[in-house]
Amino acid sequence: SIATVVSVFNGEHSVGSQVTVRGWVRTRRDSKAGISFLAVYDGSCFNPIQGVVPNNLNNYQDEILKLTAGCSVEMTGEVVESQGKGQTFELQVTEVKVVGWVDDPDTYPMAAKRHSIEHLRELAHLRPRTNIIGAVMRVRNCLSQAIHRFYHERGFLWASTPLITASDCEGAGEMFRVSTLDMQNLPMTDKGEVDYDKDFFGKEAFLTVSGQLNAETYACALSKVYTFGPTFRAENSNTSRHLAEFWMVEPEVAFADLDDVAGLAEDMLKYAFNAALTECREDLEFFAQRVEKTAIERLEAFVSSDFAQVDYTDAIQILKNCGKKFEFDVEWGIDMSSEHERFLAEEHFKAPVVVKNYPKDIKAFYMRLNDDGKTVAAMDVLAPGIGEIIGGAQREERLEVLDMRLEEMGLEKEDYWWYRDLRRYGTVPHSGFGLGFERLVSYVTGVSNIRDVIPFPRAPRSANF
Ligand code: 4AD
Ligand code: MG
Repeated sequence: SIATVVSVFNGEHSVGSQVTVRGWVRTRRDSKAGISFLAVYDGSCFNPIQGVVPNNLNNYQDEILKLTAGCSVEMTGEVVESQGKGQTFELQVTEVKVVGWVDDPDTYPMAAKRHSIEHLRELAHLRPRTNIIGAVMRVRNCLSQAIHRFYHERGFLWASTPLITASDCEGAGEMFRVSTLDMQNLPMTDKGEVDYDKDFFGKEAFLTVSGQLNAETYACALSKVYTFGPTFRAENSNTSRHLAEFWMVEPEVAFADLDDVAGLAEDMLKYAFNAALTECREDLEFFAQRVEKTAIERLEAFVSSDFAQVDYTDAIQILKNCGKKFEFDVEWGIDMSSEHERFLAEEHFKAPVVVKNYPKDIKAFYMRLNDDGKTVAAMDVLAPGIGEIIGGAQREERLEVLDMRLEEMGLEKEDYWWYRDLRRYGTVPHSGFGLGFERLVSYVTGVSNIRDVIPFPRAPRSANF
């Protein structure tokens, strides 16, 4: 029968049974005794399976001795207990069918020698064959399945929100324009400017920066919803934490306040990390060996820690009084940069920390104004080693305050007519947050550049595929 490598390692096929595994050759080693060892990888788990190939197979001389890294094969044999340490089972091979040869083994880019992670980025089509990218993918998959499971178990509905939209949720002016216009023949206004109103079949349109506003409409009818999808930011940040296209998880909860969703964020992160610790052990051990020594302890510490909570105003005091010299000055009102965030999580609290109640001037229009009139009920979750991983808020549910905020920020009430309707027809307090999914994967794997935890990164100067 056809078997995956992981199913053989897990003992799902009894010793003595015949199975066929299909995959790609990692290495071939020939012993003097006339036996060859083929390591075949199929991605179902970290390790390849070893096939012990006797030289009496009829294609031994002509084919098997010519196999090189990257060739695809179907290898059939009897499941036997492995003599080698670490491996549970191997195959006593009775047949090897070569499915695809490697044209020119000398120039095959994934030949045995190790490549730098930066060089692998140039080989986005072949890097999934490496140990590191395979492990990242399995962890990424585990985390996304765990997140869906977490929300499902808690009665949340997964709402798909649109990617093409007219509204700039975060108000940061970082939207990619979506256009059906003929670039050679752009329509002009009387003032001689490009008439973008004609953009998307007669309306201006962009790629979404967040599904939140749409998610709010569903939360204000179905109580608990979440989104999990791609979002886009046209920011020219060339950092290890920013992508132009990234995935976001955005729960939105009716009748919930900021503390409720801060608790939800803590539960979700711990749930996802526990899933990785139990389901991706071998991959995490590889990261601990090759990428970051403390990969596993760090997750275990996170899961058993209590999140710290601090008001923005107090956090600013801590930064001012800590005696450390920062690149960017600390004053009440600043948008903290990653050095500040990391200091709070790594050196001061030594735990994940939820910073709450930010100055209204550095936050989006939809965040609920606090009684002090200066701050809003916003939160960021900062993780040691990475900084901001989650951003969220209680939403402004009072129509007159929302209108005041729209006006203050120079936004047009008419553009938000449907959003305002939610405040006119049975408004409720509600809250939510957004988790940057790649920042989560980067945190769990210890792979420090976010470009290496998404299959095809879109960032300034890296969108070749
Ligand atoms: O803090 P942000 O901008 O919040 C929102 O978009 C809210 N509408 C979310 C909500 O309340 N529903 O983004 C949320 C998270 C950040 O904390 C960060 O982890 C991630 O998204 N993020 C990015 N990840 C990768 N590349 C970028 N350019 C990112 N920008 C934000
Ligand atoms: Mg943010």
